[in-house]
Order: sequence, then C-alpha cells, then structure tokens
Amino acid sequence: MEKVSIGLLGFGTVGTGVVRLLTKERERLEARTGCTIQLKKVLVRNKNRPRKVLIDNRNLTTNAAEVLDDPEIDIIIELMGGIDEAYRYILRALNHKKHVITANKDLMASYGDELLMEAKKNHCDLYYEASVAGGIPILRTLTDSLAADRIQKMIGIVNGTTNYILSKMSHEGLSYEKALSSAQALGFAEADPTSDVEGLDAARKMVILSHLAYSIPVKLDDVKITGITDVTREDIIYAGKLGYTIKLVGISEVNNGAIDVRVEPTLLPDGHPLASVENENNAIYVYGTALGETMYYGPGAGEGPTAVSVMSDLLSVIRNMALGVTGNHIFLPKREMHTRKESLVESQFFVRLHIKDEPGSFSRLTDLFKEQGISLEKLYQEPITGQDAAEVSIVTHRTNKVLFEKSFEIMKKLDVVLNAKYFRVERG
Ligand SMILES: NC(=O)c1ccc[n+]([C@@H]2O[C@H](COP(=O)([O-])OP(=O)(O)OC[C@H]3O[C@@H](n4cnc5c(N)ncnc54)[C@H](OP(=O)(O)O)[C@@H]3O)[C@@H](O)[C@H]2O)c1
Repeated sequence: MEKVSIGLLGFGTVGTGVVRLLTKERERLEARTGCTIQLKKVLVRNKNRPRKVLIDNRNLTTNAAEVLDDPEIDIIIELMGGIDEAYRYILRALNHKKHVITANKDLMASYGDELLMEAKKNHCDLYYEASVAGGIPILRTLTDSLAADRIQKMIGIVNGTTNYILSKMSHEGLSYEKALSSAQALGFAEADPTSDVEGLDAARKMVILSHLAYSIPVKLDDVKITGITDVTREDIIYAGKLGYTIKLVGISEVNNGAIDVRVEPTLLPDGHPLASVENENNAIYVYGTALGETMYYGPGAGEGPTAVSVMSDLLSVIRNMALGVTGNHIFLPKREMHTRKESLVESQFFVRLHIKDEPGSFSRLTDLFKEQGISLEKLYQEPITGQDAAEVSIVTHRTNKVLFEKSFEIMKKLDVVLNAKYFRVERG
C-alpha cells in the first residue's frame, strides 16, 4: 500500500487540529505507516471562511458528493457534528466501502449499533475514539487493554463544561450563572449550553462507554439524567463541611444481571481521586474484576487533544488496511440486559434542608429517619443568621433508593421543614 487518501467532513475546531497534525507530523506519520497520506477533499459549509491552518483552497468543497463518492478516497473522517446529515453521510461512505472515523458522540450514542453493523457488513472500519473524553484513549483501553477483564462499574467525569462550572463554583465562590458565563467566555460552553448542563452530553458518553465495557446495547432512554442547573453554591459549601465535593458524574454499573446507568450531580468524598479532577478535565474511573480500580485522566476536549484521538484512529485504520483485516475490531453487542429496577438501587444520600429553629425540630427529623429504618452517618447543623431557621445537612448510611425517596417526601411535609433537597453520595 503506497498511498491512502482521506476525505474530511468538517473543518472546525477538531478538523483544524487534524489538518495541523497531518501537516506538522507528516514525516513521522508516514514513516510509521509506511505510506503516503493524502488529504484529498474537505467538506465545509462556507469555503470563504478564514481558516486557522494553511490549506489549498481547491481542496475545500461544499458538495458532499465530491468527498463521499470519490472512488480514490479510502477513509472518511467525520468532524461535522449533528446527527441526521452525519448519519446519512457515514452510511453512504460505508456503502461505498470507505472506512470511517468520527468524533460524533451524539450520533454514536443514538445510531452506533446500526452504523457498526453496516461497517461490519461492508468489511469497513468504524472508529470513534474521540467521541468520549476527547484526548483520553478510553475506548481503546476498554476494547483492547482491558479486554480480558470483566468490568463491573465505571464512574466518569465526562463533560468538561459542567466540571469547569462546578470547579469555579467550588474554588472561586462563583454562582452557577457567573461560572456558566465564564465557561462561555473561554469557549468551554456553547452559546446554548443545554445539552451539557442538563447532563445529556455526559449521558451519551456513558452510553458509548457502557456499550463497549459490557457488550450490551444500552439506549439513551435507559439513562436516568439530572443536570447541574439546580446545584447552588450553598450545596457545595455544606457538602464541603461534611468532607465531600460535588461533581456531575456518570455512573454505569452491572450487578446481578442488570445494568444501571445514570448521570447526576453526586457527592464524592474529598479524598476520592475523581474529586480532584478540576476544570475542563475529564476522568474515567474503572472497576475491573481482575485489575481492580484504575483511573484515566486528561483533557476531555479541545483542538489538539481531540485531534490526537482522531489521528490514533487513522493510524489504526491504515494498519488494518495494510494487514487486510478491516472491520475485524468491531464488537457488536453480545447480549441483552435489562435495566436495574429503581427498587433495587441502593445508595447513600446527602440531604440539605432548612428547618424552623425551635425546640424539638431536629428530633422530629431524626425520629422520622429512625421510623423509616434509615440510619445517619453524618450530621451538621448551624443557625441561619437573622432568621428563625437552621441549616441542616445529613448524610445517610447506604439505603434503598425508593425507601429514601418516600421518606424524603414525608420529611418535606413536616411543619418544621421549610425546604429540602437531596443528592446521591458515591463512596467509590
Ligand atoms: N470541539 C471539541 O473539543 C470536541 C471534542 C470531542 C468531540 N467533538 C466532536 O467533534 C465533532 C466536530 O466538533 P467541532 O468542535 O470541530 O465542530 P465545529 O467547530 O462546529 O466545526 C464543524 C465543521 O463542520 C462543518 N459543517 C457543519 N455542518 C456542515 C454541513 N451540513 N455541511 C458541510 N459542512 C458542515 C463546518 O463548516 P464551516 O467551517 O464552513 O462552518 C465546520 O467546519 C462534533 O461531533 C463534536 O461533538 C468535539
């Protein structure tokens, strides 16, 4: 194989990083692969937009057919984003027997199984390392390095925007709104941050991770999702007083033949390795039966890190082409598994509430938990200055989720309780 030709769909942040690496590292990459790598066509929306890297303008096109239907192009790298068009283009590329690399988690979380099946049918590769945690090589770690182990659980900080916001609220005392504006000003958050702050982006990544870790077809609808929009600076302060840090984590766990995947703001003990993952960084904590606990940490987005992941996929595809083994790495789901019933979920919980500061208030609370059979691990109480009310924070021992939620509803109706909220606590 003397030459491979590439077609790029999209020349934005990640596309620019890929072109930069292809240009700067050409000699090394070609020495490693033993062939010439030609970037033949780049699909964009607007050919006249100024670009951050030098590229021959004749290589740019706004006509997808010039890339997808060119018989000389061997590999398509999809870096456009979005779902419908990207889906159609990738399908078309695979049907033309072109290998595909994508960074598109929105697409892979919803249509990954279908596209992988199509790739296998066409004896093509479909790699998507950059779709989860940007520069961290976590998909390859799950499918290759940890292939012999049985993964039981993963906890991931897989959304840099929300981690940045919570870090700023924790360490600089910013409100949610100010931290979000700061993230937007620095380009860590989109103008419309909904999919990040409501937890959807993290949920999509947990779907992809779960699929690969357990060989199970996990659907986005199976993930219970809560975002960070209701997390306040006070929640963070009072969690801190009891020794916890609040993070938006994705938790995916297989237990007794059922899977549970959720994304929610969660309290982690301050000493947990994930508690110290700050700002826009990502990390995935993996529990393997034989290996034990490992953590994979690094930049979860950005031009350079994401392009490195895309390029590692490119090198894999080129190596597979040279060996004539394309399509062989694709592992389709091997088994169905039902979602764990909420009545079987157990956890610790952090409850934060304001109660009337009057004799007997506090014992009404503790009596209620006692009646419900929920024991308490930690308690904190302080009067609220200038009000006849007290701030109370409680961490329960591990308890049944449904029982806890029922007790919480009863507690909210006690006449001494002014307001209350709760979060899950993850011990790790
Ligand atoms: N940015 C990151 O750090 C990061 C990290 C991990 C994964 N990803 C994923 O990588 C993908 C690309 O992200 P990005 O941040 O690079 O996006 P981006 O900066 O918005 O760039 C998108 C590119 O695609 C082109 N494009 C979009 N729709 C098109 C269409 N219908 N026809 C032709 N061209 C079209 C745009 O053309 P114009 O330039 O002409 O507008 C632009 O060049 C997404 O799936 C994203 O989720 C991104």
